[in-house]
Parts: sequence; C-alpha cells; structure tokens
Amino acid sequence: MKTSTTLAVAASLLLAVEGLAVEQRQNGPKVVGMETVRIPARNPVHRDKLRRRGTVEVGLDNEETLYFINATVGTPARSVRLHIDTGSSDLWVNTPSSSLCRESSRPCQFAGTYSANSSSTYEYIGSWFNISYVDGSGASGDYVSDTVSFGSSKLDRLQFGIGYNSTNAQGILGIGYPINEVQVGRAGKQPYRNLPAQMVADGMIQSNAYSLWLNDLDANTGNILFGGIDNAKFNPPLLSVPIQPEQGFFAEFLITLTGATLSGTSVASDSEMALAVLLDTGSSLTYLPDDMVSTIYNRVGAQYDSSNGAAYVPCSLANEATTFTFSFSEPTITVDMNEMVLDMYLNNGKRPQFQDGTTACLFGIAPAGQGTNVLGDTFLRSAYVVYDLANNEISLAQTKFNTTASEVVEIGTGTNSVPGATKVSNPVAATEGISGPGVLNGIGRNAAGGRIRGGGSSAVGLVVAVGVAVGLML
Ligand SMILES: *[C@@H]1O[C@H](CO)[C@@H](O)[C@H](O)[C@H]1NC(C)=O
Ligand SMILES: *[C@@H]1O[C@H](CO)[C@@H](O)[C@H](O)[C@H]1NC(C)=O
Ligand SMILES: *[C@@H]1O[C@H](CO)[C@@H](O)[C@H](O)[C@H]1NC(C)=O
Ligand SMILES: *[C@@H]1O[C@H](CO)[C@@H](O)[C@H](O)[C@H]1NC(C)=O
Ligand SMILES: *[C@@H]1O[C@H](CO)[C@@H](O)[C@H](O)[C@H]1NC(C)=O
Repeated sequence: MKTSTTLAVAASLLLAVEGLAVEQRQNGPKVVGMETVRIPARNPVHRDKLRRRGTVEVGLDNEETLYFINATVGTPARSVRLHIDTGSSDLWVNTPSSSLCRESSRPCQFAGTYSANSSSTYEYIGSWFNISYVDGSGASGDYVSDTVSFGSSKLDRLQFGIGYNSTNAQGILGIGYPINEVQVGRAGKQPYRNLPAQMVADGMIQSNAYSLWLNDLDANTGNILFGGIDNAKFNPPLLSVPIQPEQGFFAEFLITLTGATLSGTSVASDSEMALAVLLDTGSSLTYLPDDMVSTIYNRVGAQYDSSNGAAYVPCSLANEATTFTFSFSEPTITVDMNEMVLDMYLNNGKRPQFQDGTTACLFGIAPAGQGTNVLGDTFLRSAYVVYDLANNEISLAQTKFNTTASEVVEIGTGTNSVPGATKVSNPVAATEGISGPGVLNGIGRNAAGGRIRGGGSSAVGLVVAVGVAVGLML
C-alpha cells in the first residue's frame, strides 16, 4: 500500500456532472461528484437471491446490473464501468486474458477491462486478491495500484483487484468500510485505503463520507457525491443515526428500523421494534422479517410465490395513493406505493398477466427468511442518504425526485461534519436482526454474498416457474 506522501495531490478538480459543476478552490468545497446511471435488472429477484447470504444458485447474466458509474484505469486510460456497491469494500476490474473475458461472446466487453502490462503506471502489490460468493463464483488475482480517474477527478494511486480469474463480467466499486475488504477478512492483512479513504488521503475530500441520490424508479440518472451533500436534492430535516457495530466493529451500514406503516397503520412485528437493517445499493428489493412481510402482503393483496421468494401484484397498484413509512428513531422516510411496484417483462417483450387478465408486477418487499434484513433500492430511492464512515453515522432525509437544482456543500472534518444534519437524540439500538459471527470471519456477508448478478437460468424460465405457482398467464 502506498502512503499519501508518494502522491501528488490533484492540482485542480474541475468536474461537471448533470446539473452540477464543482470547482476546487483554495478554500472552496472539496467535493467529488459523479453521475450514476441505472440499468434495470432484468430479473431482480433472481439477482438478489444470488447476492443474499445462504442462498446457493449458479448463473451469470451480463446484462443485469443496477447503479453504475464510469471510470478510467491506468496509463493510457482504459474505460471501465463499475457497479456501485455500499455493501462491499473492494474495487476490482476484469482483465482481457481471463478465461471469462476470452469467451467468444466477449462478455466483459460491455463493461471494459484493464490490462496491467499495458499500463505504464501499474504497480504490483500482491496476489492475494480473492473475493468469492456463496455460489462458488467470484474473482481472484492480484491486488495492484494504478491511476484511477472518475470524470476529471484523478487519483494517482489507488489499490484495486484484478480478476485474472473471474466469473463476474462487470467490475465492482465497493465503497464500504475498509475493514470489510477481502484483504482483511480473507488474507488477514491490514485494511488498505479504498476509494473514499484514498480520496481523503489525497486531499480531494475532507472526510470519509459520501451522499447517494438514486432518484426515481422512472429516472435513469442519479448521483453520488464524495465529501459533500447536495442540499437541493432532499427535503429537510437531514437527521443522523448511529451505525450499528458488529462484534465491536463498524463494518457494514446497519441502522435501526423502529417502525413501519402502510396507509398510516403499523405493519411492524411489534410496537417495540428495534430491527437492524442493512442499507445496500446492491440489492434491488427490500427484505424484512417474514411476519411483517406477510402483514404487508395481506394489506396490499400481493400473491406470494414461495418457489421464488417474492410476490406479485396487479401493476395498477402503482396508481394508488397509499404510502409506506419507515422510521429510524426520529427520521421517517415515506415511500410511495409506485416505488414498490416493479415492471416485469418476459424475454418475448410481453408482460405477465394474472389469470383474470390483469397485468402482473413484482412487489418491492420480500421476506428475509433467515437472512439479513435489507433496505434495498426500492427503499433507498426515496431517501437521500449520507454515509458518514468517519463518524459511523447515517444521515437520512426525504429525497426530492427529478430535481435538476443543485446546492453542493462540503462535508468537513470532526464530529457533526455533515452540514445541516442534526443528530437524533436517544437513538434506539438494534435488539434484533444483528447477524451472528460471520461478518469478520473471512467470508463476510458482502464478500461472500455481495457481488453477484444473476440470471443464468433465463428470466423467462424463472417467471414461468412463478407463473405456474401463482397462476400467472404468460
Ligand atoms: C459511461 O460511458 C458510456 C460509454 O462511453 C456512456 O454511454 C455513458 O453515458 C457514460 N455514463 C456516465 C454516467 O457518464
Ligand atoms: C483460473 O482458474 C482455473 C482453475 O482454477 C485455472 O485453470 C486457470 O488457469 C486460471 N486462470 C485464468 C486466467 O483463468
Ligand atoms: C507482464 O509481463 C511480464 C514480462 O513479460 C510477465 O512476466 C508477467 O507475467 C506479465 N504480467 C501480467 C500480469 O500479465
Ligand atoms: C479463494 O478463497 C477460497 C476460500 O478460502 C479458496 O477456496 C480459493 O481457492 C481461493 N482462490 C484462490 C485463487 O486463491
Ligand atoms: C421523474 O422523471 C421520470 C422520467 O421523466 C418520470 O417518469 C417520473 O414520473 C418523474 N417522477 C416524479 C416523482 O416526478
């Protein structure tokens, strides 16, 4: 690992992302913004299953991805498209010589590859990069360092992995806690500076904190701001709650869900709910305790298909003016029903129907079973979320969809560094939903289950199976 003393701090940072131009001045805001692009997962349920701990399925589908950003790696710069993941902590890229990338269908081409020997700025670190998944797939190879750029923001040296062996056609940008890097869990080494940490070391941003605005289900772009928040993208107040440690370590973005309602009536398992939930951009759906989900399904008339672990609703449910609320001690985020109703398409381009002819959609909440409770994209789109790794806090506010306004302010240093954010007084600590030993045992949740996109058995095959079980007509 290189230290910052070997690094030349980027002389000037001038970047333009949609509706936003930030110039780094002598004392001006040190913020790095990037546009995110959303590509709908063709089969979100299958994709999430591969990702969730304890579920074993095999399959790859290059076309399924969610939120990604563009980067360039090496000298000369090679373009790679990376999947943004708050649920893991390593950046890694594919390389043209792997068996996967050499397949005749050229599966790595759409997201780009990096060849170490073609880069004049490449430096070898070690061969212990090895991220793997519950289904046995993953990527392994070298940890290296090289120049990495996002828009006009350039890091002269950043450690990342190269998948000389890979079963995942798109590289990942894991931006979680360094302690969750596979170099720590798998190889027993010290954490290295991953992207946000290296940005701090390079003086590009003041503090290891970033904000994610995923935007509406029907919008294609959102953005991520490292080192800053965009006051125009949410409705105040912005309220901060502590991240829940696991075995004494802050390793994942777990916060405490204290209540949930649908149309103003509670759907919580009990009135004293204090449930640990993981904020995970890499998960398409939201996963909650089975009894809670069963209550929700009864209320919305969702048809659960146990073979698929998900439920279907008439698409017209999206037009109903009902809302969910999710409370975290104080902040309460409202999620409109239309954010919970996801379109499904068959491979022939048609939409599945129930037997009475109504068009069927996928419902955005599924039972967690024995797995972790996750607030995935169906929740996260409605929230503006600041991940403050420096202070082990999450700040939440109601998002503003589709706004083109922008008012970026820098996150400073020290406690209370997120501008305008108020700490919730007496936040509730989670009493349920904390996973047992596992996060730091070498195959953390994210390393083990985090990085899979699924769909090897085709979307059609899956939906057919579902159709048989719940009586969909295809
Ligand atoms: C990423 O690059 C691709 C290909 O060059 C381009 O089509 C896309 O618009 C870019 N996305 C972003 C978020 O810059
Ligand atoms: C990947 O792993 C397989 C089996 O472990 C091995 O045969 C192959 O040579 C490795 N390397 C590449 C670049 O695929
Ligand atoms: C790079 O080139 C050197 C010398 O030709 C070779 O020994 C090495 O295996 C190559 N490394 C990679 C990662 O391809
Ligand atoms: C990666 O780690 C797994 C689990 O420890 C191990 O089975 C596998 O052989 C490792 N792969 C490489 C290439 O070291
Ligand atoms: C946001 O924009 C998309 C795409 O134009 C549109 O479909 C959607 O209805 C908008 N959402 C809101 C809440 O206005």
